[in-house]
Amino acid sequence: MITIQGVSTIHGEQTNLYIPSKEEKIISAEGLIVLPAVIDPHVHFRTPGLEYKEDWRTGAKAAIRGGCTMVFDMPNTKPPTFTAMLLEEKKALIDLQLKEVGISLRYDLFFGADKQHLNEISRVKHSVIGIKVFMGCSTGNLVIDDDESLHAVFSIAAKENMLVAVHAEDEHLIRKRKANFSGKMDYPVHSSIRNIEVATTAVAKAIELTRRYGTRLYILHVSSAEEVTLIKKAKREGLPVFAETTPHHLFFDTSAYETLGGRAVVNPPLRDKSNHEALFAAIHDKTIDTIGSDHAPHTLDEKSKIYGECPSGMPGIEFMLPLLLNAYHQKRLSLEQIVLLTSGRARDIFNIPAYDDCVLVDLNKIVTITKTESKCGWTPYAGQTLQGWPIHTILNGRCYSF
Ligand code: DOR
Ligand code: ZN
Repeated sequence: MITIQGVSTIHGEQTNLYIPSKEEKIISAEGLIVLPAVIDPHVHFRTPGLEYKEDWRTGAKAAIRGGCTMVFDMPNTKPPTFTAMLLEEKKALIDLQLKEVGISLRYDLFFGADKQHLNEISRVKHSVIGIKVFMGCSTGNLVIDDDESLHAVFSIAAKENMLVAVHAEDEHLIRKRKANFSGKMDYPVHSSIRNIEVATTAVAKAIELTRRYGTRLYILHVSSAEEVTLIKKAKREGLPVFAETTPHHLFFDTSAYETLGGRAVVNPPLRDKSNHEALFAAIHDKTIDTIGSDHAPHTLDEKSKIYGECPSGMPGIEFMLPLLLNAYHQKRLSLEQIVLLTSGRARDIFNIPAYDDCVLVDLNKIVTITKTESKCGWTPYAGQTLQGWPIHTILNGRCYSF
């Protein structure tokens, strides 16, 4: 049994908690606040094939540090997760890696929609958390850029009662705009090529497909005011549409290219600061349901390459909760909103059964970020001083303390 003494709830009540465990442990938690452990619905832990960027040993450590005990991993690996067999092989590799570090991180996997493998979708309906559709190319080769395949995915998903998660950037528009900007090799051009219209075109299309087939739709990494407007309207209509944003779209804007260079390159790209207000407002009015780290590590060597060769993505899982707690101190979010964003809504949307995992945070602890558990060895948040940090993460009856 793990006994947690004198911890506060987010409403300020002191309480003791008793968590079933093989360990006998007493934690004096005066001054700490208990939150449900973070569920991160969007990570790229890179197994199989890209483990030089990240693997589940290091990814799990970064997760636990960030108060997170459950992740949903994306299929754009090498090879991509687009057959039932590749899915089983991936799970076996993950289990092996988690066993090596003795962390029983909870996880589920997204299945990759691929034109050549549409018939595999029904085969995995009970073994995945949903289907991931890249409507525009990102890291890897997974993309669905023709209407026929898109309709097929939404229709199969509706029939099998599977959720579809979309990377909503329109591939045709990206290609067209890339040609317009050819020759420009500075990192900020990334935000101009993949502009907000690229995102809204795809979001509108995905919502239209949901309207037609009734498919449950999860819109990943919402980054702009215009996407929020479309999603709000879809929700008002009563469509089963859910929305995620990310820490980098909430806390970085296009000015980050000046300090981070290629490390600021992500898909969808960073936007002008004017979008922050709309994203926070969308959290307040529940248009945005969840936050996903979109933890997408690449090596520093890769991120130092010139524009065009520099891969998109940045790590984020470890600092997502501290960034949100820091935003609480800035009065931009309440603790209730943080709980909904980091676990409550994900639990409902993805039908996750209850378990006892929690994270005990010290709202007063102030730390300047200098290092990370991620295998890529860097974080875009280095040098930032944040107030509010996990002190103990409890996963499946085991306590990890920092
Ligand atoms: O920036 C991104 N990185 N966006 C994605 O869609 C993929 C991700 C990755 O896997 O690197
Ligand atoms: Zn992603």
